[in-house]
Amino acid sequence: MRRVTLKPGADLDGFRRAVRALAAAGVAPEEVAWTSEGDDLFGDAVPADLPAEAPPLSLPRELGQTIAEVVPHSDPERYGLLYGVIWRVTHGERAALQVASDPIVHRLDQMRKAVRRDIHKMHAYVRFRKVEGASPERFVAWFEPEHFILEVAAPFFEERFRSMLWTIVTPIGSVAWDGSRMSFGPPGTKRDAPGVDGFEAGWTDYYESTFNPARANPKLMRQHMAKKYWHNMPEAAAIPRLVRSASSRVEAMLDREASVPNKRAPEGALAAMLDQAPASLEELNAIIRSAGPLVPGATQAVVGEGPEGAGIAFVGEQPGDEEDLMGRPFVGPAGRLVDGALGEAGIERRDVYLTNAVKHFKFEQRGKRRIHSKPTAGEVSHYRWWLMRELDLVRPKLVVALGGTAVLALTGKSIPITRARGPAELLDGRRGFITVHPSYLLRLPDEKAKRSAYEAFVGDLVRVRELGGAGALAA
Ligand code: URA
Repeated sequence: MRRVTLKPGADLDGFRRAVRALAAAGVAPEEVAWTSEGDDLFGDAVPADLPAEAPPLSLPRELGQTIAEVVPHSDPERYGLLYGVIWRVTHGERAALQVASDPIVHRLDQMRKAVRRDIHKMHAYVRFRKVEGASPERFVAWFEPEHFILEVAAPFFEERFRSMLWTIVTPIGSVAWDGSRMSFGPPGTKRDAPGVDGFEAGWTDYYESTFNPARANPKLMRQHMAKKYWHNMPEAAAIPRLVRSASSRVEAMLDREASVPNKRAPEGALAAMLDQAPASLEELNAIIRSAGPLVPGATQAVVGEGPEGAGIAFVGEQPGDEEDLMGRPFVGPAGRLVDGALGEAGIERRDVYLTNAVKHFKFEQRGKRRIHSKPTAGEVSHYRWWLMRELDLVRPKLVVALGGTAVLALTGKSIPITRARGPAELLDGRRGFITVHPSYLLRLPDEKAKRSAYEAFVGDLVRVRELGGAGALAA
């Protein structure tokens, strides 16, 4: 019997090294005992009588993916089960993983799903609390995952909370972001995270302000938010009260609908923190409207316009001066150019959805004029969560990125339009099409160049119509 000792937690590297050595030496699964360091402090991933470095195995891609996803599971049998399947795949049963009725394959699949669920829960339920008196401001969250998911779940927080200094403490380890890099540390206890504070109170306020009483369904809420996590979540304390007062709040909400609130509310990042996907465009738009602009000055938020279910969605940069005053997208000079080009391409404006990557007008005041000022990458990422939820709700077959800011918002990358123009895959696997921003056409100084650039733009829109089935409502 060979004893393989891996590090506690998800030791993917150790597992890979051990598998290579065992497979190279022809050691069958039933001859291996898998343990973690906690059980045996003196072992090594590769048994002493086997070569420390063996060549990698050639495994089907989905098996590689399954290994990476199952290793973080907390079941101590996971390594043995995985090695069993690897053995079968490398000994004539290449498609072993495709046999869904196989009990081992089924069990591995259940583990994968459990790990994914756990990651999702961590993303949704981690709640940061401000460390009292810390300078610079720091936040700590406590979370209890069921599996060893800390390392795989952490990049999400890096991406979302870049501008905060934070630590997430769990019983299996901790992860901290210092503003420029993430580092992993030892486990902690619940006492390492501060208790209720002003930040939490603000959060609860925010939850209350975005809580949709018309959708109050306590059973569903319990299903989505397992009770186990409630004690970590300040807003959970408000739920029973909110549910009790739901019907009177529905009426109040309907009354309020007509008057647009313009109070300063938490930022997009905070909405993202809550990860509470709105159920309708109206609900999403209400959240966007209630959040003030990142940069002061805008009259109002300009939300998207067009039918939910439109086959094509166009995403521009940000509202301009006229859009800001009217509260509608693409109604200024660039919008008029778009209207003309859509018409020439055989697309009805009323059939498509038009929106912007950034929902507020950012400008520089020069005398009486408000001069458009380009949003920064940080501002674009601030609004991205909203844009993505918007597209989830509209469900277009094709999303058209108009210009560089939209490309950044929809792909997460800064790519020159000249290189990217045409069909493209966007974030979350959305089908996209990249073309120029209409303002670029307006700025071209030379009439001839302007004409030919405009014709090329109309040509793009004709392709867009073909790809997106303009006017056709998504199934
Ligand atoms: N108007 C908008 O609404 N968006 C743009 O990107 C430009 C003008």
